[in-house]
Amino acid sequence: MIKENVRKAMNEQIKNELESSYIYLSMAAYFESISLNGMAHWMRTQAHEETIHAMKFFDHIIERGGKVELLDLKQLKTSWTSVEEVWKDTLEHEQFITSKINGLMKLVREENDYAAESMLTWFVKEQVEEESSAGTVLDQINLVQQSKQGLLMLDRELGQRAFPAGSAYDPAAYNAAE
Ligand code: FEO
Repeated sequence: MIKENVRKAMNEQIKNELESSYIYLSMAAYFESISLNGMAHWMRTQAHEETIHAMKFFDHIIERGGKVELLDLKQLKTSWTSVEEVWKDTLEHEQFITSKINGLMKLVREENDYAAESMLTWFVKEQVEEESSAGTVLDQINLVQQSKQGLLMLDRELGQRAFPAGSAYDPAAYNAAE
């Protein structure tokens, strides 16, 4: 049985992960509005991945006899002044999520909750990847600077990211399902 303080903290993390999904979907909408479709695609894929993260916490709480209580999601930013600003926000957001995962890890260690620790180990590794990929794109944006051609090439490259199979965020998948 999951302890109440661990359940509460994980329940809060479901909200953080769903807010992440919502933020990245908002960024996808922004990129669509300025015709950077590859970056929009990357953000849609990221939005999907965040729902998977939320569901990992959702299932963990339930599997261990706890109750999930979905919380309100906060109002989101809907516009940005530059492409660079979006990627800066992405990196900062991932750093925020890393701090939340680290806080959870600290808590479950104090509580000797080995099942939760094992599950969170996946997230610790995942956050290294998440920060690294956002940081790499931000570096590349800074490298291409004012070059429109460079930006379009980067946009095309980011558009190659694969969706998880059957993703509800993939137009090809949901159009095929109709
Ligand atoms: Fe689920 Fe991007 O952290």
